[in-house]
Amino acid sequence: MAYVIGVDLGTSGTKTVLFDESGAVIASHTIEYPMYQPKNGYAEQDPADWREAAFTTIRAVMQKSGVSKDDVKAIGLSGQMHGLVMLDENNQVIRRSIIWCDQRTAKECEEMTAKIGAERMIEITANPAMTGFTASKILWVRNHEPENYEKCRHILLPKDYVRFCLTGEFATEVSDASGMQLLDIPKRQWSDEVLEKLEIDKSLLAKVYESPEVTGTLTAEAAERTGLNKNTIVVGGAGDNAAAAVGTGVVRDGKAFTTIGTSGVVFAHTSGITIDPKGRVHTFCCAVPNCWHVMGVTQGAGLSLKWFRDNFCNAEKETADLMQVNPYYLMDKAALQSPIGANRLLYLPYLMGERTPHLDPDARGVFFGLSAMHTKRDLLRAVMEGVTYSLRDCMEVLKEMGISVNDMMACGGGGSSPVWRQMLADLYTCPVKTVDSKEGPALGVAILAAVGAGLYSSVPEACDVIIHTANTQEPIAENIPEYEKYYQLYRNLYPALQEQFKALSAL
Ligand code: XUL
Repeated sequence: MAYVIGVDLGTSGTKTVLFDESGAVIASHTIEYPMYQPKNGYAEQDPADWREAAFTTIRAVMQKSGVSKDDVKAIGLSGQMHGLVMLDENNQVIRRSIIWCDQRTAKECEEMTAKIGAERMIEITANPAMTGFTASKILWVRNHEPENYEKCRHILLPKDYVRFCLTGEFATEVSDASGMQLLDIPKRQWSDEVLEKLEIDKSLLAKVYESPEVTGTLTAEAAERTGLNKNTIVVGGAGDNAAAAVGTGVVRDGKAFTTIGTSGVVFAHTSGITIDPKGRVHTFCCAVPNCWHVMGVTQGAGLSLKWFRDNFCNAEKETADLMQVNPYYLMDKAALQSPIGANRLLYLPYLMGERTPHLDPDARGVFFGLSAMHTKRDLLRAVMEGVTYSLRDCMEVLKEMGISVNDMMACGGGGSSPVWRQMLADLYTCPVKTVDSKEGPALGVAILAAVGAGLYSSVPEACDVIIHTANTQEPIAENIPEYEKYYQLYRNLYPALQEQFKALSAL
């Protein structure tokens, strides 16, 4: 039997899973690490934590499984997108990584738009200048930490830094590179025009591959640390969303998924390129060679619920410990004790600014309609509903662009909650399905690894064999008009508050 490894470098931790060639999980191991928020709107992580987590989790799955290293054919890497890793001439990390949800670069985005032009930027990079994306982070370091910029010889994305630690190669792949805002998305290669206008030296960037392509093999040191063979191949892999698409079988037109992880994403596969001229959703290259995807992003999806858990749910955490269940399981039950609309309480999930459809780094979270009768359960339900309203916003933009979705999967930590999936089904008014594997991005990049190793001839062919639907949640007819009333009210809140968010941020 042949085996493949998927490493998923997330924001809360790195999860590594060893699969057999049919996609069955043989062993899994996760290591968590901190996110640093030195200022309001800042978000950083230490690349050394990612490196150590990758080495340790790969070693752990090998030890747990007892699988022979000779049978492990390839590794695929999935990662949180957009983070900036800078290396000096000795390949040492220069500063902590500024990650995807950091919002400090509003000025640099203005600088980018002035240099490239708003329309041209969307034509080439398929997105307006984004605070979350890597290019504005690079400019921020150049503007605020010139001594660090001066030292920089290599710029890598989070998972590509781990690749460098594993293989010694400076490589990336189209799906993750799409989120740097330096790639020509229609042409699937670095944009000389953007690089020249931003005065970023192309030699700082890694070589771009398609996702299933082989990018290198393990170094002797990495082989030693992971317990694998030196010639084990590492394929391109994918940004976490493109990886989740493969891991849920979203590899053909008409297929889409919603993930509720730290961020929330509504993702639709498109075999041709479609760009929103208003820039409200991202068009990126996807992990299926020569295809693209369109996705809307809610910045604070699972993050909202985690924030609520960590600040207000100590009792649930303690009970969950005693019952040996996940605190989110108890929180789901509590949310069900509040009705649709949470007794007239709405939540805007903009804890880390918002992307789709508002694109506003200054937006912040709001509870609207708080009354003395509300209890924690109502707040909890309002948080889950608010995140779902925001995901519905993403769906509305896809519809407007003429992207038809006839198959919606749910994944991510939040996607495993039946309560959240029912909210999605009721607000999308379509069935929402899950796959029988919970491994989303890790499975997705393991599939890419299997294709790279020649175990399957293409990504869709591998998905046909490996991915199976587990259950389907149908919309509940009487819930639909109830949610609709609250959703329409939700849509009015951001425009009413937009100026006040700006004023708050200027205080
Ligand atoms: C996508 C995005 C997030 C991160 C973190 O554009 O910013 O989904 O990849 O998961």
